[in-house]
Amino acid sequence: MKTRYIDLIEQTFDFPKNEFALNGDRLTWNGIDLVPLIEKHGTPLRITYLPKIGEKIELARSCFAKAIQEHGYQGSYKYFYCTKSNHFSYVIGQVLKSDVDLETSSAYDIDMVELLLDRGQMKPDATILCNGFKDDRYIRKIAKLVARGIRVIPIIDNMEELHKLDEAIDRPCEIGMRIAAEEAPKFEFYTSRLGIGYKDIIPFYMSNISKHSKFRLKLMHFFINTGISDTAYYWNELTKCVNVYCDLKKLCPTLDTLDIGGGLPISNSLNFGFDTEYMIGEIVGRIKDICSENRVTDPHLFSEFGSFTVSDSGVTLFSILYQKKQNDKERWNMIDGSFMTTLPDTWAISKRFIMLPVNNWLDDYERVFLGGMTCDSDDYYNSEQHINAIYLPKYSEERKQYLAFFNTGAYQDTLGGFGGIQHCLIPKPKHVLLDRAPDGSLTDTIFAPEQTSERMLQLLGYLPAP
Ligand SMILES: Cc1ncc(COP(=O)(O)O)c(C=O)c1O
Repeated sequence: MKTRYIDLIEQTFDFPKNEFALNGDRLTWNGIDLVPLIEKHGTPLRITYLPKIGEKIELARSCFAKAIQEHGYQGSYKYFYCTKSNHFSYVIGQVLKSDVDLETSSAYDIDMVELLLDRGQMKPDATILCNGFKDDRYIRKIAKLVARGIRVIPIIDNMEELHKLDEAIDRPCEIGMRIAAEEAPKFEFYTSRLGIGYKDIIPFYMSNISKHSKFRLKLMHFFINTGISDTAYYWNELTKCVNVYCDLKKLCPTLDTLDIGGGLPISNSLNFGFDTEYMIGEIVGRIKDICSENRVTDPHLFSEFGSFTVSDSGVTLFSILYQKKQNDKERWNMIDGSFMTTLPDTWAISKRFIMLPVNNWLDDYERVFLGGMTCDSDDYYNSEQHINAIYLPKYSEERKQYLAFFNTGAYQDTLGGFGGIQHCLIPKPKHVLLDRAPDGSLTDTIFAPEQTSERMLQLLGYLPAP
């Protein structure tokens, strides 16, 4: 009988696959043996593999280039990175190296952009898309960037923003408008709170923007919460949006760009079947078809992929500390960290990540639960809610068992809070950046050590701040 962990994986998935392979009894990821890194840096450990970011950007660009060519699409494509997915300097550095421009969502984002411009990391001819709800601070900073001569395209989220921008900006400026999509049927409300409703777009343009001396409408922005998916809902919303674009284009000659937002999904299981090339081909083809029916020129396309850009560069590693047997059936493998604080999406939105053991793949497997170290009963991980359990090599006190959660590079650090006070005072893990030297060899640099007890006591007001 085949009872080893490797047998289970080979029977269940097509393995080895993409960045995952086996070397002896250990998993390799992007050709990297993770065990020596764990032995050197310890667990819990956050790793970012920097080359992956550029690879993902090039993947999307090549899919769009192919689609544009195949469909004889007349517009161009431009990649923007949605900074909120991961603001850290090591990510933005990689993104800028790939000649990608940025999409911002708050006032402090603009401070970051200014610093990048001052340091020469961002080129003065870059385009900045400013999305999100804009308070006075964000408006003032957008205006400052415009005054500096930077090409900024604020994307109007609500009608009031136009007046506020008008008061703050003193020279001609391109703007965009965000369309408020209808939410997916299972949602509690019908229309997204983000953007301007379909029916209001044209009246708003006619009465407020068309004769404006300062603002020229450049783009329409569309993003749906559930992301890009091959579903009737997604195609329906895209079609509605492109039809509004076409109606508006007939009234607004300066409009020439459709921003399709973010939302390219990332792989959350070894069975992940999303075909990025096919979906991008379909999106480009459908936009072209609708524009042709309306006798409107194909718009230039912008995207703001966040998770897609950065998720796959991240892995979060834990050790199994101990196995608790709560009854005959339930075995809890306790990790040396917390799901709630380190991978908050697993707790908050039941998000799945690819979870695999790092070593002992030739050992027999068993069905377990995974428990985090906080004393919160919700601090556990289910890879599939309906199965309610996961499989790992059999626990043994005699040897170490390491566990990896892959594609954790987006949102987890900012949602969990980086270096702040965490639930049950569980420290933030050490964070290591991996890169390739010109000769292809792997380099590792510590970005942040594990959070210290002293730092927590400072934050809590027990010790003076440094
Ligand atoms: C306006 C906008 N653009 C882009 C993104 C990035 O989405 P994703 O990370 O799914 O690519 C988001 C995410 O919420 C967003 O709100």
